[in-house]
Amino acid sequence: MVIQVSHLSKQYQVHKKDPGFMGSVRSLFSKNTETVAAVDDISFTINEGELVGFIGPNGAGKTTTLKCLSGLLFPDSGKVSVLGYTPFERKEPYLSRIALVMGQKNQLWWDLPAQETFLLNKEIYGIRDDAYKQNLGELVELLEVEEMIRVPVRKLSLGERMKMELIAALIHAPEVLFLDEPTIGLDVVMQKKMRDFVAAYNRLHHSTILLTSHYMEDVRQLASRVIIIDHGKIMYDGKLDHLVKRYAKHKLLSVVLDTYVPPDKLLAIGELVSYEFPKAVIKVERNASNVAAAELLQNFPVDDLNIEEPDIEDVIRDVFTNAPKKL
Ligand SMILES: Nc1ncnc2c1ncn2[C@@H]1O[C@H](COP(=O)(O)OP(=O)(O)OP(=O)(O)O)[C@@H](O)[C@H]1O
Ligand SMILES: [Mg+2]
Repeated sequence: MVIQVSHLSKQYQVHKKDPGFMGSVRSLFSKNTETVAAVDDISFTINEGELVGFIGPNGAGKTTTLKCLSGLLFPDSGKVSVLGYTPFERKEPYLSRIALVMGQKNQLWWDLPAQETFLLNKEIYGIRDDAYKQNLGELVELLEVEEMIRVPVRKLSLGERMKMELIAALIHAPEVLFLDEPTIGLDVVMQKKMRDFVAAYNRLHHSTILLTSHYMEDVRQLASRVIIIDHGKIMYDGKLDHLVKRYAKHKLLSVVLDTYVPPDKLLAIGELVSYEFPKAVIKVERNASNVAAAELLQNFPVDDLNIEEPDIEDVIRDVFTNAPKKL
């Protein structure tokens, strides 16, 4: 077990402020504070080499959890152990075996080529020359950024900069990676490249990775296991496909029609999600999907029919809107 989290809680004290300008003024003088339970009694374990998607809506507690795991934050209660270390003790050997990458934060020097930051990290982590060369060579090749490491960072695109951030964060070859929205703001092509990189890195190094992302495509392609968090509590921990099978209440019948059928006729089968002749998508109750499909085949001019699972996005949205019911 590489990561062990047991009953972890983290609260923030925030200033209570009445709305409006006078409220702001009053809050300057009052000691009114409010407690926000950012992470509320969560437990999970992650094995070596696992790549787990950590997902949840804004403010769910993902970044707070990752900060506790990487030693940036001191938890209020509970136990955290990563690679046998207690993260917030911030022992040097621990920090040299992990990395925290935040898509919204950067560590690169704006006016200097990224290479300079890499060299600085080489000194900080005490990386030997040969190891540095090898790590850098591998990362540069995987990310296809031969020339860019010598260009001042401010001249790079957002995606190129993110690649440099990754190299800076991984140059010391950490075994455990905390990736907090590494693809945020990137275009779809660059997102895919990042995904491919994370997958390749995980495969090559058997590294343990906990990844957050608001893009379900990242999760779908990278993580077979997901942990879903909402309001600081874990709502689900398990296989992604299991989540769909178990919690999606519907299936989708995707039909290609031979001849035109008025939409209201199709409504007899189920809810019409979309209809652009000859294609129609009909939402039906999960446990009645076979009956609905048979009915469709019997009574309609069907050319082609597929029974499909709903999008993971939809299932997860269901999970959140049905909160706080625990799954
Ligand atoms: N430094 C802070 N001071 C006070 N409250 C904070 C602080 N950081 C986070 N919070 C609050 O704690 C809760 C959890 O925040 P956190 O950043 O962990 O969420 P998140 O899941 O990472 O969200 P997002 O998807 O938007 O990044 C939120 O209610 C947030 O407002
Ligand atoms: Mg966050």
